[in-house]
Amino acid sequence: MRQQLEEIRKNAEAALKATNSLEELDAARVKYLGKKGELTAVLKQMGGLSAEERPIIGQVANDVREYIQNELDERISELKAAQQEAKLLTETIDVTLPGEPCEVGNRHPLSIVLDEVKEIFQGMGFDIISGPEVELDYYNFEALNIPKDHPARDTQDTFYITDNILLRTQTSPCQIRAMEERKPPLRVISPGRVYRSDAVDATHSPLFHQIEGLVVDEGITMSDLKGTLDTLAKKLYGPETKTRFRPHHFPFTEPSCEVDVSCFKCGGVGCSMCKGEGWVEILGAGMVHPKVLKNGGIDPEKYSGFAFGLGLERLVMFRFGLDDMRMLYENDVRFLEQF
Ligand code: PHE
Repeated sequence: MRQQLEEIRKNAEAALKATNSLEELDAARVKYLGKKGELTAVLKQMGGLSAEERPIIGQVANDVREYIQNELDERISELKAAQQEAKLLTETIDVTLPGEPCEVGNRHPLSIVLDEVKEIFQGMGFDIISGPEVELDYYNFEALNIPKDHPARDTQDTFYITDNILLRTQTSPCQIRAMEERKPPLRVISPGRVYRSDAVDATHSPLFHQIEGLVVDEGITMSDLKGTLDTLAKKLYGPETKTRFRPHHFPFTEPSCEVDVSCFKCGGVGCSMCKGEGWVEILGAGMVHPKVLKNGGIDPEKYSGFAFGLGLERLVMFRFGLDDMRMLYENDVRFLEQF
């Protein structure tokens, strides 16, 4: 029996060494140390031994079991270490590899042109201010010489919050706010969102953007207005650009005009962009009405001024040759990534 045990020890040792995975190792454990294993099978024969032999063989059997168990534990840690090593190898990160490029968005066409306009006016010494989109009727209409029953209100129907609070229909209320807050000489532009209850189509949206301009000082004349807007047109659309001032009417300017620029696409000959006119209208303007100066707390006897209102969407559409304004609001990346 001693020999049998010694045999088992040797075989087990060799078998454990030969294992290459924890599964194989477990199979070996069952084979040698398990309840139905080889060692147990030998121990079952112990009953046939003499009283003297029994403790001696028992001792040997225990030694063998302990020996195999130690070998087994050692092999377990070896295999686990090897497994860990292999895992680390497959999971190594090459920190010198270039990273995945992250996608950078584009500036929106409205922002591109707005930034240009801001820069042009900043170059002429204008400050950039802003006013509230939820506005009082007083600033949006009344103080701009548009009383409650004035027909000019019909063309600027908007969304009312109460009878006296509304979403502004134009950036012109910033004229009054600027005059209230500042003293002449005053040179400001005020870009922002405006609202009208218009149905959406290729050239209308209930939300769009305007850029208001206001200059007030002693001795400001219509030629200052023309020079400023002519400079804007040339900087925006190129030095060849011409401007045309057509008489118009706004309740808050007198005299008033609409300003066209020569079509930058055809140079004034007539094309699809200018609808054969050779000119495209970009803004409304005029000399600030004396009543409006007074409403802003400025003495019309001493000071005069000019104001203008640019439609940003129009500028953008002409600039990039867009024929449908809705593209500016739909957030279609295929459109936006072209800028
Ligand atoms: N607020 C006018 C509009 O929305 C434009 C304008 C601004 C006209 C300033 C004259 C002076 O049509």
